Formats: sequence, structure tokens, C-alpha cells
Amino acid sequence: MKTLFVTPECAPWIKTGGLGEVSAALPKALSGLGHDVKVLMPAYRSLRGLLDEGRVLAEIPAQGAWPAARLIQASPPLNQAAGFTLWLLDCPALYDLAGGPYQDEGSQDHADNAVRFGWLSQVAAMLGSDLSPVPGWQADIVHCNDWPTGLAPVYLSRLPGRAASVMTIHNLAFQGLFPLDQVSRLELPDEWLGIDGLEYWSKLSFMKGGLQFADAITTVSPTYAREIQQEPLGFGLQGVLREHAGRLHGILNGIDTAVWNPAVDAFIPQRYDATSFRAGKLANKGALQIRCQLKPDPDAMLFGVVSRLTEQKGTDLIVQAAQEILAGGGQLVMLGKGDLALEQSLRELAEAHPAQVSVTIGFDESLAHLIEAGADCFLMPSRFEPCGLNQLYSLAYGTPPIVHATGGLADSVVDESRDPELANGFVFFQPTTEALVFAIRRAFGRYRDPVAWERLVQSGMRQQLDWSVSATLYESLYRELCVRPVSVARNRYIAC
Ligand code: ADP
Ligand code: GLC
Repeated sequence: MKTLFVTPECAPWIKTGGLGEVSAALPKALSGLGHDVKVLMPAYRSLRGLLDEGRVLAEIPAQGAWPAARLIQASPPLNQAAGFTLWLLDCPALYDLAGGPYQDEGSQDHADNAVRFGWLSQVAAMLGSDLSPVPGWQADIVHCNDWPTGLAPVYLSRLPGRAASVMTIHNLAFQGLFPLDQVSRLELPDEWLGIDGLEYWSKLSFMKGGLQFADAITTVSPTYAREIQQEPLGFGLQGVLREHAGRLHGILNGIDTAVWNPAVDAFIPQRYDATSFRAGKLANKGALQIRCQLKPDPDAMLFGVVSRLTEQKGTDLIVQAAQEILAGGGQLVMLGKGDLALEQSLRELAEAHPAQVSVTIGFDESLAHLIEAGADCFLMPSRFEPCGLNQLYSLAYGTPPIVHATGGLADSVVDESRDPELANGFVFFQPTTEALVFAIRRAFGRYRDPVAWERLVQSGMRQQLDWSVSATLYESLYRELCVRPVSVARNRYIAC
């Protein structure tokens, strides 16, 4: 089966969060199952170095409002290392900009995001049709990820010999809303607008387009698949999702165990597995305390956080609950960036308690790995969390997570009070400071009982967290879409 996995970010080349990780790990797992998977993303400025080594697959002439572009295949050694083939959409007018994929250096959205991601979606659609610009290659499945790719199923719907489309929601809070006057630049016919089409409260919604037109919708955990069919987590699209509930699937993300695995992790000073956990944790904890300039103290319970610093992630709850950690003689290491007011509160907390609290504002891959390996426990009090990857990494690194029961956190963490065979962390049910404080208190209690703690750690470390199960679920979905003529969405038919 030929799959085009279209995404705005893909690790290790460009990553702003979990979507970047999944866009590398899932295609790799699918390739491992024998599928022909191409990952398509824009050639942002920071990726232009890859173009010189790459091979030109197609020259795409300017069409209507769309500028000319080239499709470049990354070099073979690079693709071999990634485990899949990377295709870059080279269109300097749209992608050769300072800043990140979505925003400029001043954290403002790029002015022409509608066209930037509209064109990515249009090219993806062409690659899944008889109009594929790459001779001899036409996708059977176009797998779209989040709003930047939401128009691909829309464009695909009118193309001859079209592939089936899958729209994966990684976070419904971001919907890609644009003024309706962008419509002509995006070459969207009027009949696709309206309340049953792409319109959302007098705006154009890329996400809604993807949901309305895709043959299947997936999201990244079963619990989130249920949560988004209701308010408040449906973010206004709960009705659309309920209407399409029959083709909405929740598939829990896995982790890439070649990258996030304490036994092989190149970023940590001492590697370890479930049998050498105690010595490994102690050595990495010492290294983390030194790196973050905390008091070197093997007995202080060390809480770690790696996160976007936002309300979604419950960063404010951590600020408010930090006193409980300090009072218990614990330590807190935080890495992240985001909301400026939250960053400032965290800086003040660290300045007030330098021996016990370290805050690093920024994006730092190696510190993220060291926190997973060196912390005793991981805090993830997200108000909502479609899946979450850090709690999965924490389980793999013997760092029991403390989580709010939502989305993928509810689907992956079992509270210590439950079945001792399965318990792997701490779960609380209301996103409040009080509930988080109580969970931290319980964690301190368990930590003081080495036998109970070891049981929690071992059950997490021995869990199967890789993509093997979830990749086969995507594979089954792809097969299902390919064998039957798809009439589920808007009476459109495909054959592949
Ligand atoms: P989200 O995508 O909503 O931010 P996830 O838990 O799915 O949350 O994924 C976040 C990913 O980004 C993880 O791999 C995490 O380690 C990484 N990450 C987040 N913030 C930072 C940071 N400041 N430095 C390094 N890695 C980070
Ligand atoms: C989004 C979600 C996060 C999820 C990630 C990868 O960024 O916020 O929960 O883990 O996508 O699917």
C-alpha cells in the first residue's frame, strides 16, 4: 500500500511538539510493516540544507493562485536513517521564512498561513490522484495531520482516481481559522462553503474541512475520541464529530523506542533498563541536579516537567502546587516555553528556591531526555491532553507520572491504588491545585516505601509502549478504506 503522510512537522528535522514526534515514529512503524510511506512536509528555511543533497521528483508549475514549486526527495542515507522516505515541498515564496513552521520570530502567525498550508494540502491531494506530479507514484491513502493539512481531503474529493483520506486530530484546540475572503486564493468553490462545509462562524476552518471530507477521522487516544464529541473539548466541532462518529477512531500513540529508551539513549550519562534501574536512576539524577544547579541530594524526591507552558498543560497548577514539593523536601526541574506570564511565575519560583527549583525556559532536546532519566517522578496535570507523549516516556524511563485523568493520560496511566499488576503512576480526577497537591502527597508517601515504589517503576518500564500495536490499527484502517468503495463521506467513491 502506498501512503502519503502529510504533516507540518517531522522530527528530528522540525518539531514544536508531539505531532513532530508522531510524524516520524508512525511512518517508520508503518514502513516496518512493509508499506511504501512517504512523509510530505514543507521545505522550511531551516530544512533548505536538505534540498542540495536531494533528488528533484517533480517540477510543479504555478496554477491559478498557487506559486510554482518543486518536490524533492531527501537523500537515501537520510531516508534510511529515518526509516521512511522524506519528501519536501520546495516553494521559497511560501516556506523560506524566518521563524518556525507556523509563526515568525516574534511569535506572530505567518501572514499567509492559509496559502502556505493550502498549497501543502493541494499538492498532497494531487499526489493521491491521477494528477500525481510524480511519474509512477500515486498514493492509495493520504493521511493528514491537524489543521495545516485539513484541506487535503477537501481538494482530493474532486480529483480523478482519488486515494482514500484519513484525517488525524492531534489537538482540536487549534483549528486553522481564516477570514472567508481567503477563499478565492485557496481555489475553493462556493459549494464547499456554508455551515455543512468549511464555514465556521463566518470563518473558513481548515480543521472542519478535513473532518467533513475525510473518509476516516482518527484521533490519538480512545478517551479523547469520546471527549471531543462533547463540550468543552469539542471546541465548537462536537456536533460535526458526533455526526461522523461512525468513522471516528481513537488510536493511542506509541513511542519510538529507538529514540526514547533509557537502554540506548545517547543523551543521558548512564544508560539503564528495568534490571539496572536503581543505579541508572541514581547516576542520572546526580547529573541532572548538577546540570540544573540544584543541591546534589540523592534522597530528595525529584519531580520533572517537560512541557509547553500553557493553560492546557496545567502549568499554573504546578506553580500553585510547588509549595507541597518544597515542604516535603523535594526538588522540581522544569523545562519549557510558552505563556510569558507563566514563564515569569516560574522564574520567580526558581529564584526564590534555587536549591530546590530549577526552571529552564527554552527548547532543549538533551535536557528533556535527562529529565526523563534523572527525575523520580513526572508531573503532567494537563487540563486536556489528546494523547501526551511525555507520560509514555516517563513510564519507559522508570519515572512514574502524576496525571490528570483526561485523554491519553487516562488511557495510559493506572493509579497506584488500583490493580498492583497494572498500576504505574498517580491519577487525579479534577484539574485543580488541591487535587494535584493531594496526588503529590500520595507520591511522596509511596516514594518512602522502596518496595512499593519499585513495583510502580517496574510495571511502567515493562509495559509495551512502542508503536507495534497502534501501527497495525492504522494499517487495518487503511486496508478497510482501500477494499471497499468509500461512500461514507458525501457520496464520493474511490477504488484502490
Ligand atoms: P504537545 O504536543 O501537546 O506539546 P506531547 O506530550 O504530545 O505534547 O509532546 C511534546 C513533545 O515535545 C515531547 O516530545 C516533549 O519532550 C517535547 N517538548 C516539549 N517542550 C519541550 C522543550 N521545552 N524542550 C524539549 N522538548 C520539549
Ligand atoms: C498534540 C497533543 C498531544 C499529542 C500530540 C501527538 O500536540 O496536544 O497530546 O500527544 O499531538 O499526537
